[in-house]
Amino acid sequence: MLHYDATTRTFDCEPTLNDSQVLDFCRQGYLILPGAVPDHINQRTCDYLEGRIPANPSYLPPGMSLQDLERIRASHEPSSIFLEDWFIEHVLLNAQLAGIMRSLLGRRVGLPVLASHHRVECPAQPQGWHHDADHVFGPELHFVEVFYFPQDTPAALGPTELIPGTHLGPSRRELSEKGVLAEGPAGTLGIHHQSILHRRGESTASGIRHMLKYNYWRTTPPQRDWIGEPGFDPHRAYYGGHNVARYVAHLYYWLSGAADQYRILGGQAWPWSSANQIGPSYGFGQREGYLPDWRKQHQDGYANP
Ligand SMILES: [Fe+2]
Repeated sequence: MLHYDATTRTFDCEPTLNDSQVLDFCRQGYLILPGAVPDHINQRTCDYLEGRIPANPSYLPPGMSLQDLERIRASHEPSSIFLEDWFIEHVLLNAQLAGIMRSLLGRRVGLPVLASHHRVECPAQPQGWHHDADHVFGPELHFVEVFYFPQDTPAALGPTELIPGTHLGPSRRELSEKGVLAEGPAGTLGIHHQSILHRRGESTASGIRHMLKYNYWRTTPPQRDWIGEPGFDPHRAYYGGHNVARYVAHLYYWLSGAADQYRILGGQAWPWSSANQIGPSYGFGQREGYLPDWRKQHQDGYANP
C-alpha cells in the first residue's frame, strides 16, 4: 500500500526489488518500464506540455504566484506539472516505479522538484554520447533519475539511448557506436543512475517527441531493507568483470548501509570471481585493505581508505 505525504512530498511503500535485482541495478545502472503509465494520463501530459489544457495546481508553493507557475510551465523546465494531482498520482507515484524507488532509495522517498522537458522535432541526428552535467562517480546513491515518454517512442522516434555499466566512471564512445534504446509504447519510464553515458538516439520518423526528466531523492540513510532473497550470498554474488567488480560491490555495500565495512585486497580476491574457480574467492570480509579509486588518482585503480 502506497502512502503519500503531501506536506513533505515524500512517499512510502513496500520495496519490490530483491537482492539480485538491486545488485543488477548496481551493475547495469538502469531499468526500463515499458508502457507503465496509463494512456489517458500520457495524453493529458502531452496536452499540458503543448498548452492545450489549463493548469490546475493542487497548491501554490510558498512564495510563488500563479504567474510564476505560468512562466515555469512555458519554460524548458515545466516543473509546475508536479503540482497537478493527476500527474502526482499516476506518473510520480506510479506503482511499478514507486516500488523500485523505495528499494533503491529507502523509506520516505522525496519527489522531484525540477522537470527538464526534452522536446524534439523528428527526424533528427543523434546526440553525441555524454555524461550529464554535474554527474558524480562514487559509491553513494542519493538520487535516481527518471525519464518519462508520454507518446509512443519506438526506435524511429529517437528514444534515449544508454550504455549499460557506464555510471561507474568516465566513459567515451564514438558517434557510430550503439547502446540500449529506452524505446516503448506511450507511458514508458526509464530509471537510471544520473552518471550513465547516454544520448538522444537518432530519429527517422516525423513528429514531436516529448520526454520529461527528473530525479527522486533519498531522505534516510541506506540500509538493506529491500526484499531479502533466500540463498543470496554477497560472498559468491557476481559483481562484474575486471576493473568493474570493485566499484559495483562498493555501490552495493553502500546501499546495504555497510560501506564502512568494505575493504578489498585486489587481484583475484573478492569481489572478483570467475565461473571456473573451484572455491569461493579469498579476501571476503576483510577489515583492512583498499577502496576502489573513484576519483581516478591512482594508476592501479585502488585508493587507501
Ligand atoms: Fe543528457
